[in-house]
Amino acid sequence: MNVLVIGSGGREHTLSWKIAQSQLCSKLFIAPGNAGTDSVGTNVNIAVDDFEGIKKLVLDEDIKLVVVGPEAPLVKGIHDFFLADDALKSIPVIGPKKDGAELEGSKDFSKAFMQKHNIPTAAYQTFTAENIEEGYAFLETLKAPFVLKADGLAAGKGVLILDDIQEAKDELRNMLEGKFGNASSKVVIEEFLAGIELSVFVLTDGKDYLILPEAKDYKRIGEGDTGLNTGGMGAISPVPFADDAFMQKVKESVVEPTINGLKADGIDYKGFVFIGLMNVDGEPFVIEYNVRMGDPETEVVIPRIKSDLLELFVAVGEGNLAAKTLEVDERFATTVMLVSGGYPEAYEKGKPMAGFDKIRNALLFHAGTKIENRKIVTSGGRVIAVSALGNTMKDALQISFENAETITYDKKYYRKDIGFDLK
Ligand code: AMP
Ligand code: GLY
Repeated sequence: MNVLVIGSGGREHTLSWKIAQSQLCSKLFIAPGNAGTDSVGTNVNIAVDDFEGIKKLVLDEDIKLVVVGPEAPLVKGIHDFFLADDALKSIPVIGPKKDGAELEGSKDFSKAFMQKHNIPTAAYQTFTAENIEEGYAFLETLKAPFVLKADGLAAGKGVLILDDIQEAKDELRNMLEGKFGNASSKVVIEEFLAGIELSVFVLTDGKDYLILPEAKDYKRIGEGDTGLNTGGMGAISPVPFADDAFMQKVKESVVEPTINGLKADGIDYKGFVFIGLMNVDGEPFVIEYNVRMGDPETEVVIPRIKSDLLELFVAVGEGNLAAKTLEVDERFATTVMLVSGGYPEAYEKGKPMAGFDKIRNALLFHAGTKIENRKIVTSGGRVIAVSALGNTMKDALQISFENAETITYDKKYYRKDIGFDLK
């Protein structure tokens, strides 16, 4: 079958790399893709939210399955667009419809969903400009640090964690006055959870589910988890503290109530659920849902999956996931993200890259690269994820770091301490 992957990051390169290995895959297209996806399929220069352009591609190329990488087209309703079109409605889309995508598209919606279905999460309330005074009063009832979240999508920047109550009140006002545009016209204020974070991934056909390998990502730009937040600077899977006992709690108190809650609320959900968890003294609490895979978590989760991913996607489309099992590589996977100097603030693009021919034992997943005059150049803040497998976390990291050194371009930066907090 011909398959389309929508997106252009490291997540999409990894998904494409895996799908291309499937016996079921004839031709693979990526829209718009990057220099890495170009080596496993055919890039087509169509934006992720150009639904008419995607329709034309799907029909012209006889595409039989569509995998949506990023959240934006899901929240905008790409799955609903397919279902509403006679020519497209029989083509499975991996990714939820608009109703399910609200789990990521609206923090207020996802918090209400968790509360309704008794899924452990931080206590919260939601405020708008109309009841800002109540927001100030709610802040007074909480202890520092104060957690403020823009309700809508804010490119990963919509969460503020503040130590000072006056600052929290000022930021609440700024947010409600449009600090993140329309995304912060509602603000969720919640209790701070102290613990260690973990990303859990579930693939569901709306009835049954598979829990994929868990991962931990490193979001801050600086070593020791300091400095500005980024899209993610590296990841590790498996996560040593996520032992069988902890994962059993995650399954019983989070995953099952989530899947059952979606069903109970009449949300027919086909795709990935990414559950951002906090381990608070051994108990899992949900920080957030995303309706897609994580990036760079995908770059460690997918290399550990031995099963045919496309076969699983077909089963999701058919509502037949119950018949499938997941085969997982027991080894550790690590990834180290090479970024452009200056990221996540201003950075330069178009830097020529070299060293690809000297890569040993690592998997390179391109995040922000493109081909210019037949040469690979940087084209984003996050440039390339250097993934590796090893019998121990240390072995895998050593391969990632050695190869991270091998790839060269002007103003390259990466964190040399990925995994520092795990044993
Ligand atoms: P989010 O965009 O919801 O993933 O939030 C961004 C980051 O803020 C998370 O990855 C956490 O590190 C942190 N965070 C969010 N909510 C809380 C909370 N209630 N308590 C502590 N940290 C939080
Ligand atoms: N790595 C976190 C995310 O993809 O949102």
